[in-house]
Amino acid sequence: MFNLSFLKDIGSIFSSGDVLGVDIGTASVKAVEVTRKKGLAYLNNYGILNNYGHFDRLNEVIQTSTMKIFDKEAVKLLQLLKKELKIKTKNVVASLPLFSAFSTLIEMPDISDQEVANTIQFKARQYVPMPLSEVTLDWMMVGKREKDGRVFRQILLVSVPTEKIKQYKEIFKSAGFNLAALEVESLSNVRALVGGDMTTTMIIDVGSHSTGILVAKGGFLKSSNQIDYAGSHLTHALSKGLNINLRRAEELKKQKGLTGTGGDYELSTIMFPFVDVIIKESIRVRNEYEKDQEDKVERVILTGGGANLPGLLEYVRSQTGVVTVKGSALSGFGFRDDMTPLVPELGTVLSVALGLSLREI
Ligand SMILES: Nc1ncnc2c1ncn2[C@@H]1O[C@H](COP(=O)(O)OP(=O)(O)OP(=O)(O)O)[C@@H](O)[C@H]1O
Ligand SMILES: [Mg+2]
Repeated sequence: MFNLSFLKDIGSIFSSGDVLGVDIGTASVKAVEVTRKKGLAYLNNYGILNNYGHFDRLNEVIQTSTMKIFDKEAVKLLQLLKKELKIKTKNVVASLPLFSAFSTLIEMPDISDQEVANTIQFKARQYVPMPLSEVTLDWMMVGKREKDGRVFRQILLVSVPTEKIKQYKEIFKSAGFNLAALEVESLSNVRALVGGDMTTTMIIDVGSHSTGILVAKGGFLKSSNQIDYAGSHLTHALSKGLNINLRRAEELKKQKGLTGTGGDYELSTIMFPFVDVIIKESIRVRNEYEKDQEDKVERVILTGGGANLPGLLEYVRSQTGVVTVKGSALSGFGFRDDMTPLVPELGTVLSVALGLSLREI
């Protein structure tokens, strides 16, 4: 298991054994309060706050792809969560959205860690699409590969605008928390859903406004892509196509999904083109990964709220021809008995937040 943190300097303040994992998505804020009990991670409490404003005005989202967070909104939602959940933990690990970070896999000759550290800044200049003075860089070894008789080290290089990190620190401080670590959500998903498993896995995280498409193996992220189609596009398409309001469209989507027959058949025909865009992109990412890495994607894990769209799992399986399962990020956690019926859904919706908590627990 690996850790990658942009706030390493303050990463060791967990004396109580409790941690709050916080995932600020485009349409919701999710938090999990996790304790260590007899060496195991135990989910004490969780909260999901949806920002329903985004239903009425598409622009009113908590995060936007233009890298602007509506800070005030985020602080308000965090304070509300704290109050409603009676959160006592001050220590937070939070995720950065995929679109705010730039990740790339680079290969270097099989040199020592120190040599990599010495050359990474120079290498980064070739790849990072922003001036290096404005970004915080981090990297980790994610494997080795033999090519034409030579051994190469594979390094995942991640860069995040320093301004973004500062902004997150401010948001959590204003809401009364200590931000102990920050990581890109793709890494949290890999930790929560793949762990140390050596099966080459594609994770498709269908959120509200965007879908993350990742490839991971042995706990290491190998490829990370994103497409701006996700759950909210399905809702909007239904609303327009059936001339119903967005709330009704959202309800219908969750109820029938892609499984509509007879009178409900229209529902699926409206949504399929959007789902197909996501699948097409996933297949493109898979082909690229398989060609580059001479490896095969052996399974797909669907996560994020959109993974619960009825019929999606079967459709992805039929279109990709790969074993497809829903994320079960809660499988390694203890939790109260009365949460059991919610586990299938929470295992997808909370995958990022749970992965964050596992970083520290
Ligand atoms: N049972 C369900 N069936 C279909 N869609 C669902 C279901 N439950 C949630 N969703 C959809 O999942 C989406 C929200 O997913 P999620 O909570 O992962 O998004 P987010 O993390 O806030 O957004 P993003 O990852 O884009 O920033 C919404 O579009 C919602 O309609
Ligand atoms: Mg998300």
